[in-house]
Amino acid sequence: MRVVRTVADVRAALDGRDDVGLVPTMGAYHTGHEALFHTARVESDFVVASLFVNPAQFGDEADLAAYPRDEARDAAIAEAAGVDLLFAPSLEEMYPAGFQTWVEVEDAARGLEGDARPGHFRGVATVCLKLFAIVRPQRAYFGQKDAQQVAVIRRMVRDLELDLAIRVVPTVRDADGLALSSRNARLSPAERKRALALPRALAAAVGAADPVAAAHAGLNGLHPDYVELLDLDGATVLAAAARVGPVRLIDNVLLKGSLQ
Ligand code: PAF
Repeated sequence: MRVVRTVADVRAALDGRDDVGLVPTMGAYHTGHEALFHTARVESDFVVASLFVNPAQFGDEADLAAYPRDEARDAAIAEAAGVDLLFAPSLEEMYPAGFQTWVEVEDAARGLEGDARPGHFRGVATVCLKLFAIVRPQRAYFGQKDAQQVAVIRRMVRDLELDLAIRVVPTVRDADGLALSSRNARLSPAERKRALALPRALAAAVGAADPVAAAHAGLNGLHPDYVELLDLDGATVLAAAARVGPVRLIDNVLLKGSLQ
């Protein structure tokens, strides 16, 4: 696996390739990222992962500063998972002086995470469009856990006639059911136990006549930011978020249809 840091080096490395899978990431890899890499590896001749902690999608300076960064560890995991090229640009490479173009996806970015994190999806859509323009992949891979992110990216791809497929990889969970997230490490053992109410409530709501009410009923004292149905191109997911100690957890389950 090669590590490159500039747009010019990505372009040179990809010259002549026409079957490229891109996995956009912010690092701090766990098994969920490995599932994205493995899926991209199976489906694409050449796999690029980007590793860039995107300040534009963080509302809170402290959250950005606390985001785990360990490039050597991440590079070893990416290489073992079959990534061919790791694009790890600097802040200046992605947002050079004078940068002033932003992507604003409207309805898909409202509600749920969009309300809880103002500006978040503007930062996500902008960095993803820029990564798509740099790498020009045939496919890009995202996790189901960030379901609204998938809805926003798919809307952008459709609205701007971008020529790539957005592939969704199922959420990877720990044995106790908690969806993997680099933020889970901040949970104390007691908080982690409380956090399990979220995936359990969502799982219990699958098949219920009123899934939102069923999930609320199963939250075991957790106060959710939201429990809502989200439409993803005809598929329906039940999505929820709740704060447990220092961590804001998000999760969702598929109720109807397919995410592919
Ligand atoms: O899901 C993420 O890790 C980020 O939102 C992404 C897609 C890499 C954009 O920075």
